Amino acid sequence: MTSHHPSLLPIEFEIGIAEIDLQHKRLYSLLERLRNVTDKHFGYAVNAILAELDLETRIHFAVEESLMRLLSFSETDAHVSEHRHLTDQLKIFSQRAQDHDISDGLSNFIQLWLIDHIDKHDRELVAYFLSKGVDPVAAPKDN
Ligand SMILES: [Fe+2]
Ligand SMILES: [Fe+2]
Repeated sequence: MTSHHPSLLPIEFEIGIAEIDLQHKRLYSLLERLRNVTDKHFGYAVNAILAELDLETRIHFAVEESLMRLLSFSETDAHVSEHRHLTDQLKIFSQRAQDHDISDGLSNFIQLWLIDHIDKHDRELVAYFLSKGVDPVAAPKDN
């Protein structure tokens, strides 16, 4: 809704499972790096960040989707298709970045692509995982 100029993932988007929160923060900091380069530089820096974002996104969605299946989450199909939609949008956004300045659309992209998804969809998922006994504080050590 509002125009964000976030320097950290807002605390309300720490939704309660440490490893998932860490992955969201990683995605968010990549988007923030993108925001910091787009108006000044083009080409290499933007492409490098988008490539990293693509990789981290694949990893993150795979983790969520795997947990959904393993724990028989009833909304798995809907959540997976939302991920596919976000992946398509990232692809379109990356293509636009090849020959246009993307700084204008970046805030909206971050809002829609990451923040709204976390707030509306991942929050449900996390509540379900917690109800199934997933450890909320287990996290990789090398972060
Ligand atoms: Fe997520
Ligand atoms: Fe998700």
